Amino acid sequence: MRSQAKPSGADVSNLPCLIGCLIIAVAGGSWAGAAHAEDAASASAELTLRGAYLAKAADCGACHTAPHGKPFAGGLAISSPVGTIYSTNITPSAGYGIGRHTEAQFARAVRRGIRADGANLYPAMPYTSYSIFTDADVQALYAYFMHGTAAVDAPAPRTELPFPMNLRVSMIGWNLLFLDTTPFQPDPRQSQLWNRGRYLVTGAAHCSACHTPRGFLMQEKANRAFSGGQVGPWYAPNITSDVNSGIGSWSQDELVQYLRTGDAHHKAQAAGSMGEAVAHSFQYFTDADLEAVATYVRTVPAIHDPSDPRSRFSFGTASSDLGVLRGKYGVGTQKGDPTGAELFQGNCASCHAPLGQGSKDGYYPSLFSNSVLGSSNPNNLIAVILNGVDRTTRLGQAYMPGFAGGPNDLAALSDNEIVLLGNYLLEHYGRPGVAVTARQVAEVRRGGPSSSLVTLARAGVVAAMALVLIVLFLVVRRIKRSKPVS
Ligand code: HEC
Ligand code: HEC
Ligand code: HEC
Repeated sequence: MRSQAKPSGADVSNLPCLIGCLIIAVAGGSWAGAAHAEDAASASAELTLRGAYLAKAADCGACHTAPHGKPFAGGLAISSPVGTIYSTNITPSAGYGIGRHTEAQFARAVRRGIRADGANLYPAMPYTSYSIFTDADVQALYAYFMHGTAAVDAPAPRTELPFPMNLRVSMIGWNLLFLDTTPFQPDPRQSQLWNRGRYLVTGAAHCSACHTPRGFLMQEKANRAFSGGQVGPWYAPNITSDVNSGIGSWSQDELVQYLRTGDAHHKAQAAGSMGEAVAHSFQYFTDADLEAVATYVRTVPAIHDPSDPRSRFSFGTASSDLGVLRGKYGVGTQKGDPTGAELFQGNCASCHAPLGQGSKDGYYPSLFSNSVLGSSNPNNLIAVILNGVDRTTRLGQAYMPGFAGGPNDLAALSDNEIVLLGNYLLEHYGRPGVAVTARQVAEVRRGGPSSSLVTLARAGVVAAMALVLIVLFLVVRRIKRSKPVS
C-alpha cells in the first residue's frame, strides 16, 4: 500500500528527515549533486520526501482536499467572484486523478495553468505563483504525487461557471497579460538566505496571492505588492517594510514566531485564511526556510499610507467600564439594546480579561496592542467576532468561538450588536477615529465584498476575451500579409 499523506499534522514525524533533505537542497542547489553517491532506490525515496516538503510548503493539500475528504482527492469548493470552482483530484489515480500525467504534463499544469487535455485552468489554481518553480522542484513534486500519495479512484465535482467564464480559452488573454514565465533568477547582490526567501515567498508560499490588492481583471497589482488585499471575509494587511503601515517594526524573530505559531505577542494573531496557511503550511517550514522567508519579507519595499500615524499594534491601553456598568442598576437591567460595555463584559471579558489585557501567558491575547484593533480597516475585528479563531499548531489549539449564531458559536450577536461592541472596543482598546458600520458587518457576514466584483470580473472576462480576439485578428492578419502575393 502507498503511504497515506495527510494534508496536515501527519508529517511532523518526517521533519528531521525533511530538514536533512532541505539542507541538502539548500547546500547543493539541486538534489542530483548530493544524491549520486546513494543508490537509485534511496535517491527516489529522498526525491519523494523533498516533494512532500514542497507540497506542504506550497499548500497543495489545502485546496486539493475537501473538508473530511481523502487527501488530494479534490472537491474543495472555492468560491470566486464569478462562481464556484472545484479543485481536482491530483492523486495518482489513472482514471480520476493525474496518474497518467507525464512529468511534462504535470509541469505544464503547475507552472503554466494548462491541463493535460490542453484546456486552460482558472487562476484559482495558483500557477501564476508556481511559475517560478525550478525544474528540480517540479520533478520532486511529481515524484511525490506519483509515489508518495494514495490513489483515490473517485471523481471530483465538475466546475461549471456561468457564461462567459465557462470559456476556458478566455484565460489565454489573461495569461498573456499576467502570467510571468521568467524562470527564477537569484539576485547575486543578495545573500543566499534572501534569495531562498524570495523563491519561497513568490512561489510556494504565495504570500502575495492574499497580501497584494487585485486590479480590475483580478490580477495582483504588481506596483502595490504586499500592501494589503481582501480575501473573502478577511483582510490580509499591509506587510511591506513600512514602519507605520506595514510590519517594518517587527523583529526577524517576531515574524518567524508568527509564521511558525500564528501568534506574535502584543502584535498580531493569525485567524481566517492566515490561520489556515500557518496551520497547514508555514508551521512545517524548516527553521532555515522560515528565517529565509522572514529575511526576504522584511526587505519588501515600503508602501506607506499617509493616514497611518503609528503601527497597527501600537494603539490602546488597558481599560474597563465595569465601574459604570455595575453602578446603580447592575448589569443588563436596561431595556433595549445592550451597550458596547455590556456586550464586552458579557461575551469577551471572560477570556480577554476585564481590562482587555488578555491572559499573562498570552494564550488569550490582549485587545490593545493588537493589530486587528489598530488597523484603519475594521474588517478583521468584525470577522473575528463573527468567525472566531481555530488554528492548530505544534503549540496546541488556539480557539475562540464565533458569535455569528452557528452551531459551535457561543452566542448570536446581531449586526447592530456587533456595531455597538466593535465601536466600544475601538474606542477603548483600538484606533481612534475608526468605526464599524452595520453595512460592513453585513458584508463580512455574507463572506466579504463580492457582489460588486462579479460585475467587475464579468467585465474583466469580456475584456480578456476581446483581447484574445484582437490577438487572433493580428496573428491572422500577419499570416495573411506574410503570404507571398501572387
Ligand atoms: C489555492 C488553491 C490551490 C492550490 C494551493 C493548489 N491548487 Fe492545484 N488546482 C486548484 C484548482 C481550483 C484546480 C482546478 C482549476 C480549474 O478547474 O480550472 C487545480 C488544478 C490542478 C491541476 C490540474 C489537474 C488536472 O485535472 O489536470 C494540477 C496538476 C494541480 N492543480 C496541482 C497542484 C499542485 C501540485 C499544487 C501544489 C504545488 C497545487 N495544485 C496547489 C487549486 C489549487
Ligand atoms: C491565504 C491567504 C494568505 C496567505 C497565503 C498569506 N497570508 Fe498573511 N495574512 C492573511 C490574513 C487574512 C491576515 C490577517 C489575519 C488576522 O488578522 O487574523 C494575515 C496576516 C499576516 C500578518 C500579520 C500582519 C498584522 O499586522 O496583523 C503577517 C506578518 C503575514 N500575514 C505574513 C504573511 C507571509 C509572510 C505570508 C507568506 C509566507 C503570508 N502572510 C501568506 C492572509 C494570508
Ligand atoms: C473562550 C475564550 C474567548 C472568548 C469568549 C473570546 N475570545 Fe477572542 N480570542 C480568544 C483566543 C484563544 C484568541 C486567539 C489567540 C491566538 O490566535 O493565539 C482570540 C483572538 C481574538 C482577537 C485577535 C484576532 C486576530 O485575528 O488577530 C480579537 C480581536 C478577539 N479575540 C476579540 C474578541 C471579542 C471582541 C470577543 C467577544 C465578542 C472575544 N474575542 C471573545 C479567546 C476568546
